[in-house]
Amino acid sequence: MTQELTSPSPAPQAPGTGRGPGWWRDAVIYQVYVRSFADSDGDGIGDLRGARERLPYLKDLGVDAVWLTPFYASPQADGGYDVADYRAVDPLFGTLQDADELIRTAHDLGLRVIVDIVPNHTSDRHPWFQDPELARQRYLFRPGKGESGELPPNDWESVFGGPAWTRTDRGDWYLHLFAPEQPDLNWDNPEVHAEFEAIMRFWLDLGVDGFRVDVAHGMIKAPGLPDIGHGAQAQLIGAQVLPFFDQDGVHAIHRAWRRLLDGYGDAHGKQVIGVAEAWAPTAERLALYVRPDELHQAFNFQFLNAPWQSDALRSVIDASLAATASVGAPTTWVLSNHDVVRHTTRLGGSLARARAATLLMLALPGSAYLYQGEELGLPEVTDLPDEVRQDPAFFRGGRATGAVGPGTDTESAPDGVAAGGQDGFRDGCRVPLPWSGELPPYGFGPGGSWLPQPADWGGLTVAAQTGDPASTLELYRAALELRRRLPGLGDGPMSWAPAPDGVLALTRPGLLCTVNTLGHDVGLPAPGTPLLSSAPVTVDDATAQLPGDSCTWWAI
Ligand code: NOJ
Repeated sequence: MTQELTSPSPAPQAPGTGRGPGWWRDAVIYQVYVRSFADSDGDGIGDLRGARERLPYLKDLGVDAVWLTPFYASPQADGGYDVADYRAVDPLFGTLQDADELIRTAHDLGLRVIVDIVPNHTSDRHPWFQDPELARQRYLFRPGKGESGELPPNDWESVFGGPAWTRTDRGDWYLHLFAPEQPDLNWDNPEVHAEFEAIMRFWLDLGVDGFRVDVAHGMIKAPGLPDIGHGAQAQLIGAQVLPFFDQDGVHAIHRAWRRLLDGYGDAHGKQVIGVAEAWAPTAERLALYVRPDELHQAFNFQFLNAPWQSDALRSVIDASLAATASVGAPTTWVLSNHDVVRHTTRLGGSLARARAATLLMLALPGSAYLYQGEELGLPEVTDLPDEVRQDPAFFRGGRATGAVGPGTDTESAPDGVAAGGQDGFRDGCRVPLPWSGELPPYGFGPGGSWLPQPADWGGLTVAAQTGDPASTLELYRAALELRRRLPGLGDGPMSWAPAPDGVLALTRPGLLCTVNTLGHDVGLPAPGTPLLSSAPVTVDDATAQLPGDSCTWWAI
């Protein structure tokens, strides 16, 4: 039976702002993991100049905006998510002038720029943590338990494995939900709020169009920091509200930031946005982060985690659309990022499924994030030698605590910080991009690459795929071009159409999208004229043969 889904209507806007429907509601945003995107100076580490030089490639790909992962001054204990100075560029990645030039070049090309903000924790090298007096007020220090305070203050575990507490030379303990080099900030302190608002204004003044908010569900901890009470914490993350994740108190922070973003946007005639990296147990709780007075977007990790199975996909799509529609927000789809197994590998090591999943995602109403390299169909690299690994979870045994999942087919960690490419860690999705040539570093830069690239990536480079209509790169280009051209794609209504078992059929105005999740061909009455398909589709005597693991867009 055809089921009509309510189109999420634009969120009510504050009176007098005239902000319009919002560019972000159906934007396709490309995640640049800076250290692995393009290296301009030959040190083997991607940088801002390298990224700027490649912006025309992203324009040509057809995305609307880029999200840059942290490039701030940092000891790099967690790939830059340990920030020592939020207003400085780490020399590894360039200078503030490079950031300025990148933003300007992007804008000249018509691309918007989103940067990361990391408010749950800083680096332990941050001046606040280095000053014992300031640190006491602005981080979470507690006395230990036990006769001489030798036991951690509570039973919380670090997402990267081991206790979430480290003892100082002075005998007390500080909280770090991630690595010990990432102490958690004390958001009960108004100075912390003021500082993050000032940091946002700093980057807004440099021209950015928004922020990806790291651990947007983590800043507020339950009063008294209560024990969780049992050992299997890693399995609970993302499955239920915890005393340190998804506390209701975080929403007041997001409301304040929305006021800041709207106020800034109004004053400068633009729309600047916030996107939450939030792990919430249900689609309904995730939707709270995108209420009209909170952030604009929240990554839909439930879609990312869905197995390649038609019923499961349909129910996650329905639940996501219903939850976000209830607050007037669009849904923000994502299949890959720098924390999870690349979707080619996650979906059973099948490039066919990955291509189909992408076409499905791009046919859904709302916005979508792409992770660099997925447009090349890159697989997870699963044979990195231990000596090149950099993921802090690898060194802290995160996998041993169950904080990271095996993830080779459908699982990925609900905390979003690892998902078991190579035995549960995240370096395998962060291998530098192959741009051209037959040998590493495949045009990544004039030197080597900080993680070794596989010897057989010569056929996957941008140069090798460009102009080949069968390539994954050209599939992405064609899909993004159609998405821009067809008014029925992007934000707007969607309904399900009848389809055989194992097949999904969804309609958008003027378009029907079929997804065959089975491993073999399925025949059905041709629904229209094929516009684009992830695998060759045949239409004979008005019967269409959908190849196994494929997605097709039909003009209707
Ligand atoms: C989520 C980021 O995406 C991940 O890379 C990082 O390790 C954690 N947050 C901690 O900042």
